[in-house]
Amino acid sequence: MHYEIRELKDHVGEIVDVRGWLYNRRGSGKILFLQVRDGTGTVQAVMGKNDVSEAEFNIGKGLGNESSVIVTAEVKTEPRSPIGVELHVKKLNVLQDVKDYPIQISEDVPNIDWLLDRRHLWVRSKVPHAILKVRSEVVQAIREFYYQRGFVLYDAPIFTPASCEGVSTLFEVPYFDEKAYLTQSGQLYGETGAMAFGKVVVFGPTFRAEKSKTRRHLTEFWMVEPEVAFLELDGIMDLAEDQVRYVVTRALDKCKEELKILERDTSILERVAERFPRVSYGEMQGVLQKLKADFAASGDEKLVKLSGDILKNGLGDDLGAADETAVGIHYKRPVMIHRYPSEVKAFYMKRDPADPNFVLCVDVIAPEGVGEVIGGGQRADDLKYLEEQVIKHKIPPETIDWYLDLRRFGSVPHGGFGMGVERCVQWITGCEHVRETIPFPRTIYRTKP
Ligand code: 4AD
Ligand code: MG
Repeated sequence: MHYEIRELKDHVGEIVDVRGWLYNRRGSGKILFLQVRDGTGTVQAVMGKNDVSEAEFNIGKGLGNESSVIVTAEVKTEPRSPIGVELHVKKLNVLQDVKDYPIQISEDVPNIDWLLDRRHLWVRSKVPHAILKVRSEVVQAIREFYYQRGFVLYDAPIFTPASCEGVSTLFEVPYFDEKAYLTQSGQLYGETGAMAFGKVVVFGPTFRAEKSKTRRHLTEFWMVEPEVAFLELDGIMDLAEDQVRYVVTRALDKCKEELKILERDTSILERVAERFPRVSYGEMQGVLQKLKADFAASGDEKLVKLSGDILKNGLGDDLGAADETAVGIHYKRPVMIHRYPSEVKAFYMKRDPADPNFVLCVDVIAPEGVGEVIGGGQRADDLKYLEEQVIKHKIPPETIDWYLDLRRFGSVPHGGFGMGVERCVQWITGCEHVRETIPFPRTIYRTKP
């Protein structure tokens, strides 16, 4: 009978088949210890010289890593094993004996670019395997969060006629006799869904021609974008906070094993249970000024260096990476920064009636250097204002007129946000670079494998 490795603890005393790959092997002339993995776990298979035929033992002795095998064995309790059991081999069936598997099991990771060139194999190794398991759990948590709350899944197109987030990061593609753009965000389509279904969630890949080589940017990434009719900024912030809390809490609960493999200190993640501070852009300028001074005087080399880059962009500009890092160091949990200057935000944002120099937007900043994980806000709902914005932002009217119909036919206050799945996984797993959070990352210099 075949079982997955994760099921073995329930089959102590039985003779089972385990199908998988040799992760590692050690042993002497008389006894071999084969680490077998099948994707659901790793188990030690003990093979004594007298347990199998001489031919099988000899094959086992020379078996290379990542050889594909079917092991017939008895499941025995083993308290020292992380899964509580080990296998005592009766029969070893080798499907393919592999020699010279290129990736070594070693702690000191070689060049990450070298590994990414072999990503098709590297996904079998412990660390990437754990990160991608967390990603899978995060995506499932996102889907369940919205499903439980009655959101309708609403898929947006990938080929689009117009930009959503500014032309500088648009990927243009030939489209028969015309041209189209890969979507930067499904939001404009999400808004059509909100007017049809009340609450929708768009979830799919998005594309940005990011020329910057940072640890937070991909050219292809997945975004989850809820959009809700009659929801205003405070409600949008509530939704974002609830969603982040739900996803992180669930990952902490379901991915304990993976987070242990990743040696993740989860203390800051656990602080999602607390309320996220909500600070306006204006108030944050004051906080950052104080942090800049405090860090400069701290005597801590890293903080002093960071201090030099805080508020580099100046008042009225977007916050920089250093500002977001400082915010994370200060608050040690996700922070919501709302009401940015209208000049730095997209054309569709609604102006703050209290001060029209600012818009009713919100960014959620994750701590530990990850920075912005969510961007969103309330949408401009006035036709005349949006028409002016379209002209101001030089958006070809014929590509966006359909969107303006939403303000002609039953316009209501509404809004939503987008969360980058990879940035969220990056924060939860604590990995250095966002490219490790997706099976096949796409960046300015990488379209392979
Ligand atoms: O802040 P952004 O640009 O917002 C939008 O696209 C809105 N239209 C979303 C909405 O309101 N429905 O992007 C949203 C999030 C960011 O906070 C970040 O997490 C992620 O998308 N993101 C990226 N992730 C990886 N690589 C990139 N190049 C990213 N650009 C944005
Ligand atoms: Mg943003």
